[in-house]
Amino acid sequence: MKVSVIGAGNVGATCAEVLAHHEICNEIVLLDIKENFAEGKALDIWETSAINMYDTRITGSTSDYSKTADSEVVVITSGLPRKPGMSRDDLISTNAKIVKSVTEQVVRYSPNTIIVVVSNPLDVMTYCAYVNSRLPSTKVFGMAGILDTGRYKAFLADELHVSPKDIQAVLMGGHGDTMVPLPRYTTIGGIPVTELIKKDRLEQIIDRTKKGGGEIVNLLGTSAWYAPGSAAAQMVEAIVKDQKRVFPVCALLNGEYGLRNIYLGVPVILGKNGIERIIELKLNDDEMRLVNESAKSVKEVMNVLDNMKD
Ligand code: LAC
Repeated sequence: MKVSVIGAGNVGATCAEVLAHHEICNEIVLLDIKENFAEGKALDIWETSAINMYDTRITGSTSDYSKTADSEVVVITSGLPRKPGMSRDDLISTNAKIVKSVTEQVVRYSPNTIIVVVSNPLDVMTYCAYVNSRLPSTKVFGMAGILDTGRYKAFLADELHVSPKDIQAVLMGGHGDTMVPLPRYTTIGGIPVTELIKKDRLEQIIDRTKKGGGEIVNLLGTSAWYAPGSAAAQMVEAIVKDQKRVFPVCALLNGEYGLRNIYLGVPVILGKNGIERIIELKLNDDEMRLVNESAKSVKEVMNVLDNMKD
């Protein structure tokens, strides 16, 4: 069971480390364009194997995609991270070229792989990978919802002094400030969150969640990696172990929620075939309005991509 992670920066290396540490697969290839960088990170991670007690083999490569051949899953983290003052959308022209070229090389060596995209702007980079991979949309999707719900759950756990393990939540829409956390589908040990937190306070937590990526960028001067890397690894685990987990994932919609030809965060079932099913929630009018607003802003950036010259 082989998994490749493209991009050995903070997110890619964290993802690879989690995959190895938790023995989610038995072979990992970490690849980067920067000379010797992936080799160094992979070696450092491999040298934790006897300490952390795992036997997943991890190797690094500088741009030799033949090393990634026949990967079951490929995680694409390549591209620039954002800096303070930038939105994720500001990265589009640089990252679109990178994601296109990475995707083409990935599918050359792993024509039947499943691709999990992590590069930003997430929804549009996932669309970019889909278009350039020529794979079915069930096999090309993006990681954002697990990260965004992870943040939401962490803030709720702090607020209520409860274990984050007991919080269940769904979040929809794009991976940007228009994302749509859904309080009606948020429970704490089965108890609706609205019974435990007042409306105004919950609104504040939702607002912090929407800006959660920016909060880290402002603190660190670059974007987050522990939560994004771990979230991508959790998606890989659901696929390689055919767990049929229910996660919010950035998926291509073909009529679901009345939307078409757009990559957007929706709840799905993830298993060995990739997206096994998109779950359609019975959203109320307010929720649907927010999802439509989010879809509109993602679509605008998708149009920028469509109009870009190679
Ligand atoms: C974030 C970046 C990775 O949300 O999009 O932290």
